[in-house]
Order: sequence, then C-alpha cells, then structure tokens
Amino acid sequence: MTKPSILSFETYDAWDAEAMGEVFEIHQFPANRNTDDLPIEVREGIRAFAFKGHSVLGADIIDAFPNVGLIANYGAGFDTIDVAYAASKNIKVSNTPDVLTDDVADLAVGMLIAVSRDIVGASRWVSSGDWAKSGAFPLQRTVTGKTVGIVGMGRIGRATANRLQAFNMDVHYSSRSEKDFASNWTYHDDVEALARAVDILIVAVSAGPDTADIISTDVLKALGTDGILVNVSRGITVDENALIEALETGGIRAAALDVYKNEPNIDARLLLLQNVLLQPHQSSGTIETRKKMGELQRKNLLAYFANEPLVTPI
Ligand code: 8YV
Repeated sequence: MTKPSILSFETYDAWDAEAMGEVFEIHQFPANRNTDDLPIEVREGIRAFAFKGHSVLGADIIDAFPNVGLIANYGAGFDTIDVAYAASKNIKVSNTPDVLTDDVADLAVGMLIAVSRDIVGASRWVSSGDWAKSGAFPLQRTVTGKTVGIVGMGRIGRATANRLQAFNMDVHYSSRSEKDFASNWTYHDDVEALARAVDILIVAVSAGPDTADIISTDVLKALGTDGILVNVSRGITVDENALIEALETGGIRAAALDVYKNEPNIDARLLLLQNVLLQPHQSSGTIETRKKMGELQRKNLLAYFANEPLVTPI
C-alpha cells in the first residue's frame, strides 16, 4: 500500500521522524519558505501538514498545496496558523493540548521562584567569586503567601494556580468567563483590575487577535513598582516596548519570559537588563512531553487518513 504524503515543517526529533516515516511519505517544507522549490506533482500529492514551530502558516502556503485536508500542529498554541482561512477551504486543524500542561505549569512556577529569589544571579555570584570577594548575596523577595493573578484560566492557567496554592498564595484570575472549578479563587473580568489586585501576574492565556498586547502600559502600571510579570503564553500577548520601558525605569520589579515577539531574535534591550529572567521558549521542552506531543500529532494524522474524527481538533 502506498503511504500518504505529508509535508513536514522544521526538524523533528529522531523518534518522531522515524515513527512518521513508517506510515507516511514525508516531504520537507523548504527552509527558504519558497513552495515553488517543491515540484507541482509533489505539492499536489501532499494531503496533510505536520506543522511545527511558530512561523506564519497563511493562505499563500495553504494555497500552494491544493489537496491538503489537515494541518496537524505539534503544539497547543496555533496563533500563527490562519485557522479561518483553513476552515474556509474545508481544511481541518488539530493541536496537542493536555500532554504539555504540566511541563508548562512547572516552568511557570520555576520561573517565578527563580526571578523572585534571583537564583540565576545568585549562581553567578558564587561562580564569579563574588561571594568570597564581596560577601553575602543581596536580599531577595519571598514567594510563599503572595497574591498571584493568572491571565487566562485554561488548562495551563489552572495547573499553574493549583501548584501555587501549595505556596499558600491567594489566587486571582481573569478569563472570558468565571469558572465553576475556581470558586476559591477571585475572578476579575478585566486584566487591569486583576493586575491592580496582585503582586505577581502570570500570563497563560491562549494567544490570538483578541489577546494581542493584553499586557499593556496600563496593565503594567496597575501591577506596580513591586510587581513581577511571568509570560508562558506567547510574545504577542505583551506590549514588549511597554514591558521593556517598565523594566528599565522600575515601573515593575522584574519579569520572567519564555516567549517573545520576535523569536529567536529577541529585542536586544532585554539582554541588557538585570531584572529579567530569559528562557528560550522551552516550557514544553522535555523529552517526556515532546514524545507525547509527537504521538498525539501522529494520532491526529492517522485519524484523518482513516476518515475518523480527529483526536484533538481545535
Ligand atoms: C511549541 C508551544 O509548539 O505548544 C505550544 O503552544 O509553544 C510549544 O510547545 C513547541 O516549541 C514546538 O514548536
């Protein structure tokens, strides 16, 4: 039996590439993004995309593959995929939620503790010899018992809040609607009001046109000079110029970021700041979770080719 042809974006780990190759004929999306580099017979043969990464997947690319019927995303977020255009062409889209929730929530908490206690700076204090030369490390700030605000009470927001309850934190959140499961937590229908009420703001909202720049100058002002911002969502949810200005001028105390507007070439001003913890968009980046994401992506592809309902449609 001939294997169905799929188009693979970016590079997969060996375990995924092998497993995909066993059931599909794989063609690689050109690194220069020029779809004309693939012969027309190849493009016409492609029936699904194994999409990965955060580049823009818009109408131009979709239209270059007239027989594609599924975009199977390796990742929970799909802000760079033109889902509306895909739907208008009757193309389905799937993602990989749930399997990465715990890792993302773990990293959000880790980043919060790391930035509050300046764990990275403290490590440098030891390795540079400053401890022996200059004495004790400057005092940092307590984590336990603070008031935390979660922007977006989806799977990741909820898992993060559950973890922070173990730190005796008073949890507040904002979301499209109040959640039944969150009766112990305080709901705000407005992000600025949420920021005003808390010491720490964690952005876990799903990114899209509705949430672009949701962390604005006004929200950062409301968070205040002692506030901390953690972002594990997408760079587009934060007005990055406003954030950098707030960090440079003491408008907020510190930030911990896993995501940026322009990845991986992030705004160079961030590299100069002492009050920001920078992570390379790695919240789902564990071997365990990436294996599960690959498996779920393949399950969606196989369901599509078997004419069965997708496992995790968006
Ligand atoms: C990436 C993520 O998809 O799931 C998401 O939304 O941001 C990540 O898991 C992953 O880095 C693959 O590109």
